[in-house]
Amino acid sequence: MWGAVRVLRARMTVSHLRPWRVGRARKPLGRTRKHGSAPFPFLPGQCSLHPMQRWPLTLTVLMTFVLGACSSDDVPPPPLPGSSASVGRGAQLAGGLAACGFCHSLQGKPGAPLSGGRTMSDMFGEVVGPNITVSPAGIGTWSESDVRTLMRANKRPDETYLYSWFHKGNEWMSDADLTALIAFLRSLPPVENVVERRDISWIERNTTGFFTAAAEVKGYVPQISSRFRLQYGEYLTNSVAGCDRCHATPGGTFGSSEYLAGGAEIVFDGETKIAPNITQSKGAGIGNWSEGDLTRYLRTGVTPAGREVDKRFCPVEFYQRATPEEIDSVVAYLRSVPVVEEPQS
Ligand code: HEC
Ligand code: HEC
Repeated sequence: MWGAVRVLRARMTVSHLRPWRVGRARKPLGRTRKHGSAPFPFLPGQCSLHPMQRWPLTLTVLMTFVLGACSSDDVPPPPLPGSSASVGRGAQLAGGLAACGFCHSLQGKPGAPLSGGRTMSDMFGEVVGPNITVSPAGIGTWSESDVRTLMRANKRPDETYLYSWFHKGNEWMSDADLTALIAFLRSLPPVENVVERRDISWIERNTTGFFTAAAEVKGYVPQISSRFRLQYGEYLTNSVAGCDRCHATPGGTFGSSEYLAGGAEIVFDGETKIAPNITQSKGAGIGNWSEGDLTRYLRTGVTPAGREVDKRFCPVEFYQRATPEEIDSVVAYLRSVPVVEEPQS
């Protein structure tokens, strides 16, 4: 876990490239490494591959940027912020794989207003999903860069930090996707709904160390081309959907956190479910599921055994709205994830 945090803390130095200049950007590779442990700082945080598998992947991703820098047809420049194409992409993400409304609407459903009200829990206790519409009760007074900082560093404009679990992975969302999300949030009607904020004591914040361990991603995060199915799938799984928020085995004093191996207690609206192991383990995970099974699950919430998943806990009603290309990429990536036989907790 600390390794991962260190990777996430690696900073990039190119801070002034405008997100809409991706196609023509010449300098995303000109960064420095602050911490030697990061082989490739802008791969989405939870890179689960064995180091030997990582290099070909890294090379392919590198090629994406190199090609992107040479020819602007390869990775099309993202739409300008606020344009309808950008709002459309933001809506697709928020109502699809990023599932913002799962936690930020009272109903936890796509299409419901993002005015907050749903209760959930983390290691600090109960918390209510805040209002993220542009009203005074929501984020109406926040600038675009305030929202960006929240998503990149879990830091609010008043300099307080949020516990990073809820948005785990989102700090590595590409600039283009983040810009689109913000444009979408700003296009929504304001809703007046005051949500009470929880208060975590100074001692609690500072003894756990979690608030200060929040990743701080600075600078430019490029878009991964959807033509690279596996890498795009990795990006969507880890930095957009954040499946690992719920499906990771919680680390503790005696065990390490295991990627997608399940075992965490997920609490919504006062009820608890254990997130299952979704690695390729045949016994403990979903190693027996075919690609078609996994696709069907993400489209319908029904497992190959015919069991309907509890949609209040796994955001499949959002995943249903992802594009076929997004689903294919996530499925391809999940099938490549290393086996973990048992939750390690
Ligand atoms: C798994 C649940 C979950 C998901 C999914 C989620 N959030 Fe959040 N978000 C929260 C919680 C909980 C908080 C408040 C945490 C706290 O107060 O400690 C929060 C806080 C925020 C805040 C800060 C609001 C404030 O007033 O402090 C913003 C902005 C935000 N989220 C935007 C988003 C966006 C945009 C998405 C989709 C990309 C998203 N969130 C997805 C649970 C979630
Ligand atoms: C907010 C927490 C949360 C997130 C985010 C989440 N899941 Fe789930 N998921 C759960 C819970 C809890 C269950 C168990 C629900 C039940 O038993 O009815 C579950 C069940 C599943 C199952 C069924 C496994 C089985 O053996 O029955 C699969 C597959 C799955 N999730 C895949 C995913 C994928 C892929 C993602 C990301 C694209 C994801 N989940 C994101 C909480 C989550």
